[in-house]
Amino acid sequence: MNHIPILCEELSYCLTQIPSGHVIDCTFGMGGHSRIFLDYNWKVTAFDRDESVKQYLPNHSNFNFINDKFSNINKYNLNADLIFADLGMSTMQLTGNRGFSYLTNDSLNMCMGFNDVTAVDILNNSTKSELLQIFKNGTDLPNVTKYANNIEQFRCAKKILTTFDLRDALNTQNYSVLSQCFQAIRIACNNEIYELSSLLKNTCSNMMIITFHSDEDRPVKHNFEQSPFFGYFLPSEDEIKNNIKSRSAKLRFKFKNSFIIPANFKHKIYK
Ligand SMILES: C[S@@+](CC[C@H](N)C(=O)[O-])C[C@H]1O[C@@H](n2cnc3c(N)ncnc32)[C@H](O)[C@@H]1O
Repeated sequence: MNHIPILCEELSYCLTQIPSGHVIDCTFGMGGHSRIFLDYNWKVTAFDRDESVKQYLPNHSNFNFINDKFSNINKYNLNADLIFADLGMSTMQLTGNRGFSYLTNDSLNMCMGFNDVTAVDILNNSTKSELLQIFKNGTDLPNVTKYANNIEQFRCAKKILTTFDLRDALNTQNYSVLSQCFQAIRIACNNEIYELSSLLKNTCSNMMIITFHSDEDRPVKHNFEQSPFFGYFLPSEDEIKNNIKSRSAKLRFKFKNSFIIPANFKHKIYK
């Protein structure tokens, strides 16, 4: 299994423009981005709430790992020059029979680590209006009421326990809808909106965050727009061709000091 890290050329370019220091990689995953920081001589403190990532930790004197949620960063008194996060889940989680994928029939857990509830709890115990809010927060779908209704109807007859139960409950064959509804349940189960809002309260003046959907991108955009130098990169057509998962990604950044992007740099900066 291979997790292809996203927007690496763009990250590397930024690292050539700022002095190396101490970075907190909030989302270690399989370590693709942490390794880029190490290559550019950064000292890396990596967080991940999922303890199964420990198998991927680099053995490097500049690397330190903390198995915790990034909302807890302030507990550790770390003085960082840069905070980096690549939101969402890794390939290891998606293909790990943990209930994140609608493609295989697994029990519906969806927990990344240090969770208070599972997806089964959410789907069977939330009221219809709570479900509606979960779908509104976690999808870009125009009409989510029918999915909340479908779930309520389904669970009157049968508890939702597996990924295929959830597919049946949603009652759609549309892969985009399935993927967005699964995403919404994952976001709720892992309290991702709270996690991101805690991260954005951090006072570090240099931050880079890869976002994947509008509800996580919007607060990052609003926060970064208050900084002297901000913008975002999109994956190139080549990257999207090689790694379809990058298609919805944006690498947003804010830096205390600006730097010049050369005219011949192939990756455009958007504002
Ligand atoms: C998209 S993957 C990161 C991939 C990584 N950049 C790489 O190159 O391999 C996201 C990772 O962040 C972790 N994660 C998500 N939310 C988190 C949180 N609030 N606190 C700590 N880790 C989190 C997930 O467990 C997952 O391993």
